[in-house]
Amino acid sequence: MSITTESELKGMQKASEAVALTLKEMTKFAKPGLSTKELDNFGATILKDFSANSAPFKTYKFPGYTCISVNNEFCHGIPSDKKILKEGDLINIDVSAELNGFWSDNGNSFVLGEDKNGHQKLVDASKDILQKAIYSIKGGVRISDIGHLIETEAKKRGYKVIKNLTGHGIGRSLHEEPAEITNYKDKFNLTRFRKNSVVAIETFISTTSTYAETQNDGWTMVGNKGGFMAQHEHTIVVTDDKPIVLTEMNEIWN
Ligand code: CO
Ligand code: CO
Repeated sequence: MSITTESELKGMQKASEAVALTLKEMTKFAKPGLSTKELDNFGATILKDFSANSAPFKTYKFPGYTCISVNNEFCHGIPSDKKILKEGDLINIDVSAELNGFWSDNGNSFVLGEDKNGHQKLVDASKDILQKAIYSIKGGVRISDIGHLIETEAKKRGYKVIKNLTGHGIGRSLHEEPAEITNYKDKFNLTRFRKNSVVAIETFISTTSTYAETQNDGWTMVGNKGGFMAQHEHTIVVTDDKPIVLTEMNEIWN
């Protein structure tokens, strides 16, 4: 969406506060021994306190309120009481929701407790690249140039990017135009970021794979060549200068 009034900005700020604080609290709540279903239920109660509706549950009939993906799972992991978190797990939580007709989206990859499996470097790379990408966006910048930046920064650190997962426009629904903000330079995409538009920027930084494939459960995505992936996501408003990071309260950069 394009923000044209103060009340639209307020609406986006409220929805973003709900998803950001839910993500932050879920990240803090995650601990070894907890099932991903318990973690999801915890997130659901926070969304409910905000009167926010889970986007995956409401719009996509996803079997959960948030997406929780662990280790080899890249995204859209289904919360399950059989999936128990362990020290050193690479966890991704993605929280998106609607509040009063406004939609916001954010995500966080992190290592649970001690970095026993050496995932922290990948996590840090993704966080850092998201920050570089977001602060390079302003009205008039080509979407493909941001994709180029993300891929170049990933390669510099010895990583790859996932080609078929993308950021997206957001606001009055979860997915709007621009439909695909890729993590690589899509030379056919001549679209530019527009001032006042709301977009969800997300990294998909991976160790070995370049495509994500859906598993038999119809939801969970894993890498075509295995390995691990880190994702960090913020919903932002594009301006003439630095973007307004609407989901900054999730503290994924802290
Ligand atoms: Co998104
Ligand atoms: Co998301």
